[in-house]
Amino acid sequence: MARQVPIGVLISGSGTNLQAIIDAIEAKNLDAKIAVVLSNKADAYGLVRAQNHGIDTQFIDHKKFSSREAFDRAVVDTLRARGVELVVLAGFMRLLSPLFVKAYSNRIMNIHPALLPAFPGLHVQQRALDHGVRFSGCTVHFVNEECDEGPIIIQAVVPVFADDTEASLSARILKQEHRIFPRAIQLYAEDRLRVAGRRVIVSGAPQDGQLTLVQPPLHE
Ligand code: GRF
Repeated sequence: MARQVPIGVLISGSGTNLQAIIDAIEAKNLDAKIAVVLSNKADAYGLVRAQNHGIDTQFIDHKKFSSREAFDRAVVDTLRARGVELVVLAGFMRLLSPLFVKAYSNRIMNIHPALLPAFPGLHVQQRALDHGVRFSGCTVHFVNEECDEGPIIIQAVVPVFADDTEASLSARILKQEHRIFPRAIQLYAEDRLRVAGRRVIVSGAPQDGQLTLVQPPLHE
């Protein structure tokens, strides 16, 4: 069994990804221990989820700080004080300053609800719909100093249907987020991730050259 990696989960909202991580740990599918759940929003429902499972929480109000760096320093200090090794951004709606990224270089993971590098930024499910793509999905990546730009760890693909709404596509993607985020953290816990330039090498991952998706289907 791998060691229990001490992680800090940063949230701003409902925390369904946090819940998926908690559930994976409790199901013993994820060798991690949540040292703290930290939110920049006092009313983030994810804080309640954490408390329901006896996990320490911390609210740090970014509005109380004079600069992004000052807020980030307070967050980094909190994470270090709790012994956090890996930082997990699970719907944390703040850009990180270089100070934060350097403090946890290649040890910050983010989940993004699109197939990066397509559709970085905000409102990406609607933008994917507007663009008419046939597939979208989600991406877990290491965080670098550019927004949604760091080395990709794992992706899941979902189809986009003609009658999709932003809500229906978001729900389809979110379901996959809950599968791949715990998996990415587990790969880290198993020490199977190596960053090489902008690529992440996953040791021991099987390769299936037959795996293809076509939408609309070739045969009806
Ligand atoms: C997810 O769609 C995630 O990809 C994005 O923010 C949303 C967070 O959802 N970064 P939740 O708070 O985990 O429910």
